[in-house]
Amino acid sequence: MKFLITGGAGFIGSNMADRLLRDGHSVTVYDKFVTGRREFLAEAAKNPSFKLVEGDCADEEALSAAMEGADFVFHFAANADVRRGLEHPYKDLEQNTNNTYHVLEAMRRAGVKRIGFSSTGSVYGEASVIPTPEDAPFPVQTSLYGASKLAGEGLIAAYAEGYDFQGYIFRFVSILGERYPHGHVYDFYRALKKDPDRLFILGDGHQKKSYLYVGDCINAILTVIEKAREKVNIYNLGTDEYCEVTDSAGWIASELGLSPEFSYGGGERGWVGDNPFIYLDTSKVRALGWRPELSIEEAVRATVRYLKANEWMFD
Ligand SMILES: NC(=O)c1ccc[n+]([C@@H]2O[C@H](COP(=O)([O-])OP(=O)(O)OC[C@H]3O[C@@H](n4cnc5c(N)ncnc54)[C@H](O)[C@@H]3O)[C@@H](O)[C@H]2O)c1
Repeated sequence: MKFLITGGAGFIGSNMADRLLRDGHSVTVYDKFVTGRREFLAEAAKNPSFKLVEGDCADEEALSAAMEGADFVFHFAANADVRRGLEHPYKDLEQNTNNTYHVLEAMRRAGVKRIGFSSTGSVYGEASVIPTPEDAPFPVQTSLYGASKLAGEGLIAAYAEGYDFQGYIFRFVSILGERYPHGHVYDFYRALKKDPDRLFILGDGHQKKSYLYVGDCINAILTVIEKAREKVNIYNLGTDEYCEVTDSAGWIASELGLSPEFSYGGGERGWVGDNPFIYLDTSKVRALGWRPELSIEEAVRATVRYLKANEWMFD
C-alpha cells in the first residue's frame, strides 16, 4: 500500500514510517520540521519506496499534491505539547483542529478516503469511569490540547458520514520508546543530568499514569486498520496497568545508576489540566488480538537507555 504520514519526521510518525517500509509499503512523509528531526528519517531515506515532502499541513494544495495516489493517510502532525496550551490558546486550535480540517480537505481533493488519526486519552478529561472505555460518558474537557483533538475527531467522523471516508481514531496514553522527544522521562533525565542528587517532581508524585511503548502503539494501529471495518473506528491504546509518577522517577534514576532525593511541588495535579489518573480500558483493541509486549516499567527503562545512547536528543 501507499501511505502518506503527516508529522512523519516526529517521534511516532518516523517509527511508523520505518515499520511500513520494513513491511514493504511505500511511504511519503509530509512534515514541516517544527519538532520533527531529519535524523529520525535517516534509515527511511535509504529506501527507494520513501519520499519526503517538506510542507505545512495548512497548505492544502501542496498536501493534496503529495497525497496523489496514496491509499491511506496517517495524520500525526500536531502540537503534541499537552502542558503549555494556556500559554498560547490559539495554537492547539490552529495546529490540531484546523489542520485536521486541512488534511481532510486535501484528501478530498486527492481522492484519498482512509485516515488514521492520533487522538489522545486526554480527550476523556478527568474521566468518571476508570479504566475508561471508548464509550465513556461524553467527557468534560480539561485541556485545550484535548479539546482540539476531540474537535479533530468530530471532523473526521463528519467527513466519514458526509463524504464516505473511513476514519480510524486512536486515543492513546503517553507513548515511550526510541526517539522519545518530550514528556516526563525526557524532563527527568535532563534534570538529573544537571543535578544527579536531586529531582523535583511536579504535583505530589502520586499522579497515576499509563504509558505505552511506541512499537506496541504501532502494532496496535496496524492491527486496527487491518481488522476494523466500521466507517468510524475509535480505539483506546494503552497497557493494562498504570504507575505513579514517583515509581517512574525511581525507574529512571535506577536505569541511570543514580539515587537522587525526590522533592515535590505538591497537590494532586502537576499543572492546570494535568489528569491525576489516566488509565484506559483497552479491551476493544485486545479483542482484535493485539497485546503489548513491554510493561510500563520496561518501556520507561528502554526509553532511558535510548536517551543515554542518543544524548544529542538534548541538544
Ligand atoms: N507522544 C505521545 O505520548 C502522544 C500521546 C497521545 C497522542 N499523541 C499524538 O501523536 C502525534 C505524534 O506525536 P509525537 O509525540 O510523535 O509528536 P512530535 O512532535 O514528535 O511529532 C509531530 C510532528 O508533526 C510535525 N508538524 C507539526 N506541525 C506541523 C505542520 N503544521 N505541518 C506539518 N508538520 C507539522 C512536527 O515537525 C513533527 O515532526 C501527535 O498528533 C500527538 O498529538 C502523542
